[in-house]
Amino acid sequence: MFLQGLLLAGDTSAENWLKALLLQELPAQAYGRLLLAPGAKAPVAVQQKGKQVCSCFGVAAPAIEGHLLQCEGSSESRLESLQKKLRCGTNCGSCVPELKRMVRSVLPFRVAAA
Ligand code: FES
Repeated sequence: MFLQGLLLAGDTSAENWLKALLLQELPAQAYGRLLLAPGAKAPVAVQQKGKQVCSCFGVAAPAIEGHLLQCEGSSESRLESLQKKLRCGTNCGSCVPELKRMVRSVLPFRVAAA
């Protein structure tokens, strides 16, 4: 789950950390309902963007890993999903070997059925 948009009203002191989540496309699972909490300090420490993998589109490792954790299927389909969602690996292609390595090493997170 990635934060895709928001509208602040009233207390807008959370703008800075919410903006960091949005602009850096950081995973927001750890925040849950805390995304709605007002305050200038993030209720969960905001991760830094991390190592850039795709320089053509400015895509960093945490965004890629976050997507891969939710993406099942073959290695080829997971790479295609990454390219479609984040655009990484769709221009010069120099990051594709690293993307393929990440596809192999970051396995999907499966929630056990209760
Ligand atoms: S570095 Fe990723 S497409 Fe160019």
